[in-house]
Order: sequence, then structure tokens, then C-alpha cells
Amino acid sequence: MAAYHSPAYFCDREKETKRVTGALTNGRNLTLLSARRIGKTGLIKNAFYQLQKKKDWQTLYVDIMPTDNLNDFIKLLGKAVVEHEWRHSKSYLKKIATLLSGISAKLSFDSITGAPEIGVEYKTRQESEKSLSEIFHYLSAQDVKYAVAFDEFQQITCYPEKNMEALLRSYIQQMSNVNFIFSGSNKHLLTSMFSDYGRPFYQSSDFLFLEKIEAKAYCRFICEKFAKHGKSIAPELTKEALEYYRVHTFYVQYFFNKLFERCEKTVTKALVEQMHRLILEEREYIYYSYRNLLTPYQFLLLKAIAREGGISQPNASDFIAKHSLKQSSSVNRALAALADREMVYEESGVYYVYDVFFSKWLAKNF
Ligand SMILES: Nc1ncnc2c1ncn2[C@@H]1O[C@H](COP(=O)(O)OP(=O)(O)O)[C@@H](O)[C@H]1O
Ligand SMILES: [Mg+2]
Repeated sequence: MAAYHSPAYFCDREKETKRVTGALTNGRNLTLLSARRIGKTGLIKNAFYQLQKKKDWQTLYVDIMPTDNLNDFIKLLGKAVVEHEWRHSKSYLKKIATLLSGISAKLSFDSITGAPEIGVEYKTRQESEKSLSEIFHYLSAQDVKYAVAFDEFQQITCYPEKNMEALLRSYIQQMSNVNFIFSGSNKHLLTSMFSDYGRPFYQSSDFLFLEKIEAKAYCRFICEKFAKHGKSIAPELTKEALEYYRVHTFYVQYFFNKLFERCEKTVTKALVEQMHRLILEEREYIYYSYRNLLTPYQFLLLKAIAREGGISQPNASDFIAKHSLKQSSSVNRALAALADREMVYEESGVYYVYDVFFSKWLAKNF
């Protein structure tokens, strides 16, 4: 889906944006949490857009999802710094020469964009730690303030290196001109990282639990976007579709984007329904393959949850009987396995199929 564009294409989140910029500009770090695809990355980009307007503020965004170890982490962080300087300083190569040699990075250039790329290879933990320290040292030596976002931060818990948290924390707490956003969708991992007594990051940041966008504001935003481009959609139809997709940002954006593209002038109910169907058809191939990843019992439970559109009491005897789920002990085990694989998630005591489109497809086809 489309990446962050500008505030004009970004719905609401005014309070949340202020909380992010407020924490950072007042010298506090922030942990940002929500289910997947609710809008954490978008919020970071929107807050950074605002911060960049301030004098003396620079922003670095690093998505560490693709990293598997400390060296990957260093490479991505180093690359973010180098790219940032490339974009912002004409004499960037001179500026980063010491940094590059300090982290033993090989520099190359993208043949199309000319953007700098770095290659790093460290043999020992000592070499890695020295390079990490060089990057942080570089940032703290600059005469500006930095906001650094580590997106999908829970990924560091999967690294084979021990004491990653303590290592990062030791640098992070020393720097007075750099503040951090730690963002991620694994609520359990991240809350315990930042709120368990005795863990290195204990009480080192504010928390922001990102909720869904308020449906009324979202409805207004969508209707306005259609109107702005000479098309129209009735608020009632908009509201219905928002609810249909549980006001889950990604699915809502995806749906309305397609709908906008398809609509000539006025959105009809028939077009809405056609688009619902089309989206599921496009995905059918992947959804069939999901079935092979689950045990038959897990699939049965997933179908049942999808058909109910969410379930608050998966152990209730009528739910079990209605969907032929046999005994409740198997339900608990299967539910835990599905949650573990992020096929199911819980929100305010209700279990849902995580992927909203998949949920619709299951409910329709089985
Ligand atoms: N406030 C918003 N207004 C419009 N689109 C948004 C908003 N927040 C997020 N999006 C869009 O929704 C999708 C999912 O958001 P994203 O920020 O990637 O979620 P997350 O990081 O929580 O997984 C993206 O396509 C993003 O551009
Ligand atoms: Mg994200």
C-alpha cells in the first residue's frame, strides 16, 4: 500500500502526533504499540514530517523488521545515517568520512538513484560493538537534535547476540541530543521490555497505545477525499464499509483506494459489493495456501471465529456445539497456537481473525 505521503492524505491522528512530537522535543523516548496495520509507521512518518519543519531537528527512520542480528542492525542504522547526510548535505562525503572508516564500511552507489550504499562485515562482537558506538558517537557529536525511530523494535529479541537490550540502552541513555521511538506490534514483548523491573529499558520511555481511527472522523475524511476529486460517496455507505472492515486502517485504505479508482462519479451499493468480492478473489490463491499451514482443528476454529465475526467466549458451549468444536480444552490450545502465529488476535476481550480480508473470505467460503 501507499507509503506516507503528506498530512493531506493522512486521516486525523492529531492528538497522537502531538504526543509523539511532544515526548521527543521534551527529551523523552516513546514506545509506540498497536496491532499490525493500524498505523504506527504512518504516525511516525506524520510526526517526523512535523518535526522536520522545526529548526535544528533531524529525523532517522529505521525499520528493523528485516534484521536477524546485531550486524544487520548496525548496517541498517549506518545506512540510514549515510543516506540522511546524502540528502541533506552537499559535502556529505567529507562529513561522513570519519564515520565510514570508524565502522569499516565499504561505500558504493546505487546506479539509478546515486544513493550511497554501505557494506559492513564484522568478525567479532568487539568489532560490531565498536562500530555501533561509532554511529551513536557520530550522532551525539552533531550540532542538531535527532529523532530516531526503530520500527518493529521487538525484532531485537530474535537476535542471537545476548544482552542486546543492555547494549542499546547503554548508548541511548547517554545521548542528550537524540531521542527515540521504539515501535512494534508485539504488545506482549514490547510492554515487558519497557515495563518489567530489572530489564535494561525499564521505565525509559513514554507509552502510546495506538487505537483505531475514530469512525466518524474517518468517514468524514473519506467522503471529503472523494468530493475533492469530483466523485461522491454517501456517508451511510462509507460508514457501513468502515464497520465491515472493523475500522482497521490498512483494510479500509485498501478498499477505499480501489473503490475510488473504480468509481466514475457516484459510488453505488452495487459497486461497493463488487469491490468487496473482487478483493477476496484477488487473494483467494494465498488464502487457500494458509489452510495447509494449520491443523484441521485450528482451521475449524479459525472458520468459526470468522463466521461469528469475532468471539468473546470461545469456551461457551453453544459456540462449541454450533461449530462442532468438541471439547473446550482443544479450543484453548488451538486458540493459543493461532494467536502465536498471529492468525488471531484479541482486542477488548474479543478474538478476531487478524487479517480482516481473510476473515471475510473464510466466513463467505466455508
Ligand atoms: N491516519 C491515516 N490516514 C490514512 N492512511 C493511514 C493512516 N495511518 C495509516 N495509514 C495507512 O494504512 C496502512 C497501514 O498503516 P501502517 O502505518 O503501515 O501500520 P502499522 O505500522 O501499524 O502496521 C498504510 O497503507 C498507511 O499508509
Ligand atoms: Mg509498521
